[in-house]
Amino acid sequence: MDAISHLGNFFKICVTRALTQTYFSGWGGVEAQGICRDPDVSREKQIQFADDMQEFTKFPTKTGRRSLSRSISQSSTDSYSSAASYTDSSDDEVSPRDKQQTNSKGSSNFCVKNIKQAEFGRREIEIAEQDMSALISLRKRAQGEKPLAGAKIVGCTHITAQTAVLIETLCALGAQCRWSACNIYSTQNEVAAALAEAGVAVFAWKGESEDDFWWCIDRCVNMDGWQANMILDDGGDLTHWVYKKYPNVFKKIRGIVEESVTGVHRLYQLSKAGKLCVPAMNVNDSVTKQKFDNLYCCRESILDGLKRTTDVMFGGKQVVVCGYGEVGKGCCAALKALGAIVYITEIDPICALQAW
Ligand SMILES: NC(=O)c1ccc[n+]([C@@H]2O[C@H](COP(=O)([O-])OP(=O)(O)OC[C@H]3O[C@@H](n4cnc5c(N)ncnc54)[C@H](O)[C@@H]3O)[C@@H](O)[C@H]2O)c1
Repeated sequence: MDAISHLGNFFKICVTRALTQTYFSGWGGVEAQGICRDPDVSREKQIQFADDMQEFTKFPTKTGRRSLSRSISQSSTDSYSSAASYTDSSDDEVSPRDKQQTNSKGSSNFCVKNIKQAEFGRREIEIAEQDMSALISLRKRAQGEKPLAGAKIVGCTHITAQTAVLIETLCALGAQCRWSACNIYSTQNEVAAALAEAGVAVFAWKGESEDDFWWCIDRCVNMDGWQANMILDDGGDLTHWVYKKYPNVFKKIRGIVEESVTGVHRLYQLSKAGKLCVPAMNVNDSVTKQKFDNLYCCRESILDGLKRTTDVMFGGKQVVVCGYGEVGKGCCAALKALGAIVYITEIDPICALQAW
């Protein structure tokens, strides 16, 4: 079951990277041609701002508790290591919520699958650090100064070796962080354990139920004697939770950073309704996100995701890619390199010409 869910998730990574959400029908065409065989894709459940009442919309699915599917952040899912979570199958059945765990310093201010995996997770983080020189040089530049002293960041992102480097950088710069996962499948348990061992208040594990998902977010936000003053979100669920359950927290929030287009869309809805009372930054407005992450990272992950979900050969397959923007360009290049016959739909004449 885990493997199937995992694969379904990876397919979604590719789809969401290549297309805007409104373009899913285009990929339905791909499915019809036999490239997508994962039933979970069509059974995905999304949680989003539904209307001005800010109610959740939940589409019931057959998979029940395990079916919540979130958009995937590019940076956190590209490496091979992100795809693998080395879970000790012996404790699979016990919910982390039912376990009493402490790290080596005696703290139990976290909830992860298995704290004993911390050492292995640390090695993964160290490997990721080698490829994340900008953040590492930020740490060096701060040289023990704490430019983020006073920042209390509540975060909700994928929890992988790469995001761990980000979280630990924020901590190294003086921020206090409490973190949960924005996706119920993508957490690398060993990395979450390493963060917990390092003293980060992390609440996440791979294969959370929907109830677990919100419980983890709540544990991050709702803590006696600690109140966040910044939100770092990927998908908007955390922001929404704070908005719905703890609106007073916004009185202290200095700003929101949102990674995903979906989350930004939700923020725009709030803004239009006159309910966005703090500044928000759209990570996609960053040129490095658009021109590097969207293009090159999607170029790599599309194949990884499709291969994992379908296990088919792509040479000679007919593939439709909807949109030839940064993501579409990357995906097309990768698919063509495998010998697929790529069809592109595009409404922008310039992009359409580029695709020609
Ligand atoms: N999941 C992820 O990790 C991830 C990462 C990056 C981007 N994305 C998503 O991928 C999508 C594309 O991102 P991008 O950076 O390439 O955006 P982009 O704006 O560069 O490209 C989108 C392209 O789609 C075209 N388009 C719009 N409506 C169309 C339609 N009806 N039919 C055909 N083409 C149409 C546009 O003209 C544009 O060229 C975004 O929605 C973004 O959210 C996901």
